[in-house]
Amino acid sequence: MEHNKEFLNLILDRRSCRSFRPDLPDRPTLAAIVEAGRFAPSAQNCQLTRFYVITDPKVLAGITDTVSRRMKHYAGRDCRYGAPVLILVTNSKSNSLALQDTSCAMENMMLAASALGLGSCWINQPHHLTDDPEMRALLAPIGVTEDEVICASLSLGWPADPVHPGRKEHKGNPVFWVG
Ligand SMILES: Cc1cc2nc3c(=O)[nH]c(=O)nc-3n(C[C@H](O)[C@H](O)[C@H](O)COP(=O)(O)O)c2cc1C
Repeated sequence: MEHNKEFLNLILDRRSCRSFRPDLPDRPTLAAIVEAGRFAPSAQNCQLTRFYVITDPKVLAGITDTVSRRMKHYAGRDCRYGAPVLILVTNSKSNSLALQDTSCAMENMMLAASALGLGSCWINQPHHLTDDPEMRALLAPIGVTEDEVICASLSLGWPADPVHPGRKEHKGNPVFWVG
């Protein structure tokens, strides 16, 4: 048991980051995080999750802008929190367990980011706009096809402020021991 304690602490200490430095993390660091996502389990090992590692400032600004215009609540706000990287995660529309598969990949990437000292935050707005024509028009040139459902996205970057102000108490998520 002792040898996994560090990893268990990493899980318990992971927190969302919503304030990022503007500088881009190096590519090997980003690649290690995406690889953790790629190695997530998937139902029937179908491996249909797709990862778009977006660092192009124009595409990033386009996503912020589209969300701001198409979702009232985000008018004048950056849903990405100014992160220099957004990993957009899609899956096949034909995969009935697309969201479950994607969520495994997302958690793997959040933990990997945490392990490497990067901040991350699940950004859900692109998922809400998966059927939005403007979001589709923006993402088509980077390769997102109509056969894909936009499941989630992850803001990534070096944290501007300390991310781990201490382990957060969790009052929800009850556990029932039976037997
Ligand atoms: C499915 C899902 C969707 C989320 N969407 C957003 C989001 O759109 N924007 C955001 O700032 N945080 C989002 N989060 C992050 C949660 O708000 C965060 O995980 C929660 O408040 C607990 O905080 P912690 O991650 O620091 O433990 C999302 C998390 C999950 C699991």
